[in-house]
Amino acid sequence: MFYNKSNDHMCGIVGYVGKNECTDILIDSLSKLEYRGYDSAGIAVFDSGEIKVAKSKGRLADLVEKMKTEGKIKGHAGIGHTRWATHGEPSDINSHPHSGKRVTIVHNGIIENYKQIKDFLISQNREFLSETDTEVVAQLLDYYYEGDPLDAIIKVMREIRGSFALGIVFADFADTVYAVRRESPLIVGVGENESFIASDVPAILKYTKNYYLLEHDEISVLNKDGVKFYNLHKKEIKLELKTADWDMDAAEKNGFEHFMLKEIHEQPTAIRTTITPRIVDGLPNLEECGITPEALKKFNRIHIVACGTAMHAGTVGKYIIEKLARVPVIVDIASEFRYRDPLLDENDLVIIISQSGETADSLAALRLSKEIGAKTLAIVNAKGSSIAREADMLIYTHAGPEIAVASTKAYMVQIAVMYLLAFELAYAVGKIDIDECRRLTSLLSSTPDIIENILEHKEHTQYIASSLITADSLLYIGRGLDYALSMEGSLKLKEISYIHSESYAAGELKHGTISLISDGMPVIAVATQKSLFEKTVSNIKEVKARGAKVIMVCRDSYDPEKDIADYKFGLPDIDDIIMPMIAVVPLQLIAYYTSVLRGNDVDKPRNLAKSVTVE
Ligand code: F6R
Repeated sequence: MFYNKSNDHMCGIVGYVGKNECTDILIDSLSKLEYRGYDSAGIAVFDSGEIKVAKSKGRLADLVEKMKTEGKIKGHAGIGHTRWATHGEPSDINSHPHSGKRVTIVHNGIIENYKQIKDFLISQNREFLSETDTEVVAQLLDYYYEGDPLDAIIKVMREIRGSFALGIVFADFADTVYAVRRESPLIVGVGENESFIASDVPAILKYTKNYYLLEHDEISVLNKDGVKFYNLHKKEIKLELKTADWDMDAAEKNGFEHFMLKEIHEQPTAIRTTITPRIVDGLPNLEECGITPEALKKFNRIHIVACGTAMHAGTVGKYIIEKLARVPVIVDIASEFRYRDPLLDENDLVIIISQSGETADSLAALRLSKEIGAKTLAIVNAKGSSIAREADMLIYTHAGPEIAVASTKAYMVQIAVMYLLAFELAYAVGKIDIDECRRLTSLLSSTPDIIENILEHKEHTQYIASSLITADSLLYIGRGLDYALSMEGSLKLKEISYIHSESYAAGELKHGTISLISDGMPVIAVATQKSLFEKTVSNIKEVKARGAKVIMVCRDSYDPEKDIADYKFGLPDIDDIIMPMIAVVPLQLIAYYTSVLRGNDVDKPRNLAKSVTVE
């Protein structure tokens, strides 16, 4: 992570101008952005023509409580913020909004040169209340403000460096909201006699589906006359109005207890929506994404670069592309790739996988790859995001909005796209014939139904989870594709249950890690691969003999003896190659129920945020 003292890195920002009383709208919109951060929240509203601020450490609910005692602020225009602090304690004082004398702002991102600017402003006798870089921007705006907000914003934009999005209100311009962005995402929504700003689409879906995507260094002005856009030369510009194809339901829980559970259940639909338009005559067809078999087969090597869960999807991709197409694939963690001077040339294809399309390290890896001369392909869920816009080729995954911090359906469609690519490439380079390509594609198409069936038996994963809740630590083991999957199972469990867990290649255990096994330690053994099954069973026996409590995720047809497994989750018999698509589901559910049973905040695990827009 980028070290920047007391700084706000992720965060969600919103704004409203219009016919309705805006406090509740701001709070409601912020609630849709809590996935971006949730350690403090605040709003600033023009109340009787004056900017009034309410802010609080803690969740949005704490802010609402605070307003109950301090008195609700009311008006028809305002801005709001939900924060994710990486350094320094979340506190009332560091919460947004921050103000100068006549300016109040909310901010998402980092101002890299805030220290120099702060020193300058202090030399000009300006005083600071907080340690944040946000307050530095508020004060700098104030310093340059001579009656024209646009002039002040433009001057500040020329001076500040970094990636950020700002929502701004000026005391002299009641009921007007200004917004500007560089790198960090920001949209401007338009409804009937009302307009919005937001870091992401779900925040405005309840009110409108129509929005503009603000580009880098573009300024937006929202007031009772509507919305206008300017560039840094103060020239008015026109932007294209977009319509969100997500509906409200997609951003609500729809009766599920948590977004994560809802999103796990949405996986069959997400797969269908993602793959169906890319299958023609029973074969993968990525032409609508600008990808032809001829173009694909030109590459000597493929690099898959991503972070976290998306990187794990890439790891599944490596196994299947290498197996089927015999093209070498290197998987990299984006934060490593970008600083290790990677060996790339124009014969390399770099695939960047990202749900949000805004992950700073993945975006930097994409830019670096382009700079070196490699061709880039992005697999992205968020429409119009930076990675989607900058890559040479693009395949959108159609998972819809993923709200839970722990990624499930986005991973599922990322691997579904990896399958399509692997099949298309294997066929293009002549490693499989047309019949085999059709057979594999139809196998992939059959997975949504199989997953629906698995979901009907989810209570069994609840039972398994109840055996994990007191564990201090556990291991996931597997070989080949099962190992690739174990990585994801382990990450999912640790991030939401807070139980330490590691994934290990089953055959590697005896080279050190097996000494961790003690009486009763849970080991989740993923053993779906027929071709490796006996080998994995030997490794399971090794841990079992040392006291491990073994949970096996394997084919239902296998009936383990008591000396092998204590629990089993059975899966239907399908080809080894396609197993990850279905075997990940019980792993997601085990993580989910363990978190629920431990009483954790499943959708918003501690210390995390959904969209990691800094390195
Ligand atoms: C874990 C999780 C993260 C993300 C990672 C990359 O459940 O969601 O590990 O996968 O932060 O994010 P994107 O895909 O937005 O680039």
